[in-house]
Amino acid sequence: MSPKIEKFVDRLPMIEILKPDRKTKNGAYYEVSMEEFRKKLHRDLPPTKLWGYNGQFPGPTIETNRGESVSVKWTNNLPNRHILPVDRSIHHLEHIPVVRSVVHLHGSETKPDSDGYPEAWYTRGFAETGPTFSREVYEYPNHQRAALLWYHDHAMGITRLNVYAGLAGMYVIRDRKEKALQLPADEYEIPLMILDRTFNQDGSLFYPEQPDDTTDDLPNPSILPAYAADTILVNGKVWPYLEVEPRKYRFRIVNGSNTRSYQMKLDSDQPFYQIGSDGGLLRKTLEIPQIRLQPAERVDVIIDFSHFRGGQVTLKNDLGPDADPSADLGNIMQFHVTKPLKKEDTSKLPQNLSQIPSLKENNITTIRNLKLVGSEDEYGRPLLLLDNKKWDDPITEKPHLGATEIWSLINITGFGHPIHIHLIQFQVLDHQPFDLERYNNDGQILFTGPPQAPAPNERGWKDTVTAPSAQITRVIAKFAPYTGDFVWHCHILEHEDYDMMRPFTVIDPKEV
Ligand code: C2O
Ligand code: CU
Ligand code: CU
Repeated sequence: MSPKIEKFVDRLPMIEILKPDRKTKNGAYYEVSMEEFRKKLHRDLPPTKLWGYNGQFPGPTIETNRGESVSVKWTNNLPNRHILPVDRSIHHLEHIPVVRSVVHLHGSETKPDSDGYPEAWYTRGFAETGPTFSREVYEYPNHQRAALLWYHDHAMGITRLNVYAGLAGMYVIRDRKEKALQLPADEYEIPLMILDRTFNQDGSLFYPEQPDDTTDDLPNPSILPAYAADTILVNGKVWPYLEVEPRKYRFRIVNGSNTRSYQMKLDSDQPFYQIGSDGGLLRKTLEIPQIRLQPAERVDVIIDFSHFRGGQVTLKNDLGPDADPSADLGNIMQFHVTKPLKKEDTSKLPQNLSQIPSLKENNITTIRNLKLVGSEDEYGRPLLLLDNKKWDDPITEKPHLGATEIWSLINITGFGHPIHIHLIQFQVLDHQPFDLERYNNDGQILFTGPPQAPAPNERGWKDTVTAPSAQITRVIAKFAPYTGDFVWHCHILEHEDYDMMRPFTVIDPKEV
């Protein structure tokens, strides 16, 4: 358990925006180095040893405009020993280097050799590389609409540890349509990355070596079925506060936690105005009292502090009616409305935001029924699978380039999973509940209700969707614009690593 840490005493850090090393024909070139370093994450904690991009935690933010390309040389300068316990019993990891990395830009439309394929890992200085080809300089075309994306490590079998060690950062694509809306901008637009971590007394990161209830002969270290830590950080500080002016702010929030999801609300009983989701702006602004944020999901919200001059507003994590209201985990960060209003707030809170054509009108070529399944490995540990297949099984999902498909995620496990698909942004069609007990008895899907429309804030572009237990969640996507090998997986990183991740291949039918 972490030492007792005082809340709301450290200022929220503003994350540096990365400057390009040089401009290219149609964009910018960056070099980013993964490094080990120490940083104070709270006033009362000794410095914490971390891994981060350019020695920062979270990594620096990359900003670009739609249509401008970004190339990044992501260099691995990490030491040869991991700072967290690595289970080498999974994925035949005993035969490959312990420290390896590969970067994925989550939510981006990217060619496969720049997508951070889990087996395209490499070691320090590209000395050793995984079985899948990866470019040394990644290219992000940024043809997609404006959105908050995020980059993070994706190396096979240790993604949970590399990300927990600190390898995550944000990436913003802007476009003219969004600018024309005159949303709060510049110092009034603040990206927030929410993460959970546990600390030892000496300030070092704590990540369990084995599950708590270990009785038998598990490998040591052994992967956990899930891990929710006991302390919440925003932009790399534990329970920080931010001084704000009495006006509107735009917060672009990503949940970069391994397992933990958040139920965000404001203790001032004021709403959030949600304007965007994973893939950018929604059609219309939503006034919403609470927002659920599963791992990897993003929300774009406007909060209006104009009626709270001199006051404090806490961003809470609602733990439910039975929770102790003073529970540490019930708090995310605080806003102190103590700054004077510098100038009149002329930013807008528009009702209409963007056009989102429905994919339902497309010609749907394939419907895939994909089960989210729980099983056990040879040690009796939970082994979660997608459609009963392991990572190593042959590729079964092969959408044609440009085809529109419906993926029905049939969750027969006892809990929800945030399912993420690379390359594309999808739309959520519906969630339909079924009788899980009946299914477990005879394998029949008996619906217990009609399909439910997605929640209002699920109706924009998404790349990660919650597939609740005992429901079929249907998503629709057009598989374009690139062919090749990508992955889809549960974004609970402990699940992704073992073994809730599968490859898929987009094929060009003209080439087969
Ligand atoms: Cu954010 Cu494949 O992941
Ligand atoms: Cu992704
Ligand atoms: Cu999962």
